[in-house]
Amino acid sequence: MPLNDAYGRVITKMRISVTDRCDLRCTYCMPAEGLQWLPKAEILSFEEIVRILKVSTELGIRKVRLTGGEPLVRSGIPTLIRMIRELPNVKDLAMTTNGIQLAQFAPALAEAGLDRINISLDSLDRDRFHQLTRRDAIDRVLEGIRAASDVFPGRVKINAVAMKGVTELEYKAFAELAEELDLIVRFIEFMPLDAEAKWVAGDVLTGSEILAGMQKHVELEEKPFSDVHSPAVEYRFKSGRGGVGFINSVSQPFCESCDRVRLTAHGRLRTCLFSIQETDLLPIIRTGSEEELGRVLTQCIWNKEEGHQINNPDFQRSDRPMSQIGG
Ligand code: 5AD
Ligand code: SF4
Repeated sequence: MPLNDAYGRVITKMRISVTDRCDLRCTYCMPAEGLQWLPKAEILSFEEIVRILKVSTELGIRKVRLTGGEPLVRSGIPTLIRMIRELPNVKDLAMTTNGIQLAQFAPALAEAGLDRINISLDSLDRDRFHQLTRRDAIDRVLEGIRAASDVFPGRVKINAVAMKGVTELEYKAFAELAEELDLIVRFIEFMPLDAEAKWVAGDVLTGSEILAGMQKHVELEEKPFSDVHSPAVEYRFKSGRGGVGFINSVSQPFCESCDRVRLTAHGRLRTCLFSIQETDLLPIIRTGSEEELGRVLTQCIWNKEEGHQINNPDFQRSDRPMSQIGG
């Protein structure tokens, strides 16, 4: 029996935040300082994550993505990957990382059985990267991307959060990187998930604006290709190497085909990035039965929100910033 919601969607993907900590401080995500970490005693152990996944995959989850904060800040991630790989129903296991520690970890992640990797990188300019992430670390990320491309050939994507006044300056640089490494750079519209609550609609650079700008620098195939289960619309370059993709979460919401739920590092199930309510699985995982966990999961997913309300005047922000949810 698949995991259905009340709007006819079938939920097959779970994104798991393994830590809320991070070695960068991206301005659109975290404050420079002062963010309270989740209490250590409440962070799910690897065994607890696997137990939640065992029940979830018996019910219908098929694809798993590890996120953070920054997942590689938590020690032992290759071990967690090996443990998850033992679950027979996990058909795809991916990770989203900022790439800072990837040069070191990429081979171990591949060996442990990770299938694919997305690396976040919003600027290719050293100073702008420093400003955006509050760390002077672009070289490490670029090294990480190269290391990942070696061990995950054809299975690396770059994600850039698109922002007015920033991303427009770098279309050419991103196109060159995508072509050189033969990978897709995807632009994600800036969403109101920043800890400092500074997001305003005027900061959003839309996918169609980027597409128009990109076409001045690189020839794209006319028709996009898109996986029905991915919110990204992707265009390959005519050269045959690389391409660009667009995740237009604000200007063209794709909520009606959403097939995912999220789990925070402390075991709260979130059925939408923008959920106002979440369900605490921690007490159930620590003292309850698998049957109870299955019942709660099924019920929560049935109640999944119809969609986000970013474009509504009475949109209500979630108290949780992106770093505690996982992208
Ligand atoms: N809007 C859009 N994307 C965001 N991310 C973090 N904060 C935001 C935001 N406010 C992205 C990161 C990374 C993933 C974890 O989520 O850049 O790609
Ligand atoms: Fe860290 Fe990712 Fe947030 Fe940047 S966006 S601060 S890399 S969690």
